[in-house]
Amino acid sequence: MAEDLNIVSGSKEEKYISITAQIKALIDGEPDLTANLANIAAALKEQFGWFWVGFYMVKPNETKGADELVLGPFQGPVACTRIAKGRGVCGTSWAKEETIVVADVEKFPGHIACSSASKSEIVVPIFKGASVVGVLDVDSDMLDQFDDTDKAYLEAIVELIQL
Ligand code: SME
Repeated sequence: MAEDLNIVSGSKEEKYISITAQIKALIDGEPDLTANLANIAAALKEQFGWFWVGFYMVKPNETKGADELVLGPFQGPVACTRIAKGRGVCGTSWAKEETIVVADVEKFPGHIACSSASKSEIVVPIFKGASVVGVLDVDSDMLDQFDDTDKAYLEAIVELIQL
C-alpha cells in the first residue's frame, strides 16, 4: 500500500466510501494493532479534518481492580488518559455496548470535556466477539456534525480491525 492517501471532496458518503477502501488496504495483512489503529486515526483525520479522532482501549487497572478505557492512538490535541466504565460519552458507549451520537456535548450529562473546543461527538464501540474491547471516539469543533451515515460507516470501519 502506498503511504499517500487519496483525499476526496464530495458528499459525506462519497468520502466514507473512498476512505473505507483505503483503510482496508492500509491495514490488510498488518497484524500489529497499534500500527493499524494509528493509521485509521490518521486516515480519518486527514479525510474529514475532525478536531479529534482516536481510540480508547479497555485495559485492566490493577489498583482499582476494574477495567477502564485507556487512551490509544489518536490525532488531535492531547486528551484525557483514562475513562471509567459508564463515564462520559466513551464510558457510556462501552457500558451500553452501542454507538452514541451527541449533537451538543454540553447537553450530554457527564460528558468529559478534554477540550472546550469539542462541540459534538460520536463514539463507536469495538467488539471482539460479544465483548467491547475499545471505542473509536470522534470529536468535532462544530455542533451536530454526526448522524446515521457516520454511525454506519464508522461501525463498518471498526469491524475491519483485526483484534
Ligand atoms: N469527550 C469524551 C472524552 C474523550 S475526549 O473527547 C478525546 C467523553 O465524554 O467520553
